[in-house]
Amino acid sequence: MDKTTMFTLTYGIFIAAVEEGGKMNGCIINTAVQSTSDPVRMNVTMMKENLTTQMIKKKGSLTVSVLSLDAPLDLIRLFGMRSGREYSKFDEIEYKTDKQGNPYMGKNTIAYMSLIVRSILDLDTHYLFICDVVEGEKTETGQPMTYADYRALKSGKVIEIDNYNDVPDKKTYVCTVCHYVYDGDVPFEELPEDWTCPVCNQPKSVFLAE
Ligand SMILES: Cc1cc2nc3c(=O)[nH]c(=O)nc-3n(C[C@H](O)[C@H](O)[C@H](O)COP(=O)(O)O)c2cc1C
Repeated sequence: MDKTTMFTLTYGIFIAAVEEGGKMNGCIINTAVQSTSDPVRMNVTMMKENLTTQMIKKKGSLTVSVLSLDAPLDLIRLFGMRSGREYSKFDEIEYKTDKQGNPYMGKNTIAYMSLIVRSILDLDTHYLFICDVVEGEKTETGQPMTYADYRALKSGKVIEIDNYNDVPDKKTYVCTVCHYVYDGDVPFEELPEDWTCPVCNQPKSVFLAE
């Protein structure tokens, strides 16, 4: 199978967030999708080892904030490359809370949804949370950030609103497990064989060139 076919799928960029046991935490996800419209349901797939995942499993609810195209890379780094185990992510940003007490983004987001987990499927490395959407509100006007926008942003490209599909052709290496895009100074080919993905710790061999 050509695993790069998976990179042709289109995703958004979201922050899944939760308050559990007095602590707020959240992480970047690209795997939030609507599954049914009446009732409104969404599926969210998350790595078991993420602190956010474990907190959501305990609490049984979460929010999903839809990031806007103008969201800065630093925000994505904060929520997507650091763990709440060693860092209190919500200390640095504006947020509001929903009726379950879960935080959602107060800035750089065009909408949020409140989700109640109804069922959990064990996918070995991940949990698939099947959720009812119980609240939802547009917070700012603007365009949603897509996964392609995020990759362009990481490559240092200035994204023009309404003209943002033009991704540079430089070869990029993407983790097939968590979709982290390698952007280090050392060329990917020259990284040592025991190098691992900084996001999900998978070996170099799971990366594919695009
Ligand atoms: C662009 C991008 C997309 C990501 N997508 C997902 C995802 O869909 N599911 C997931 O569990 N983690 C995903 N991650 C990884 C988590 O955001 C990351 O592991 C985070 O540091 C976990 O933080 P936590 O331990 O505080 O929960 C993604 C990261 C990035 C940068």
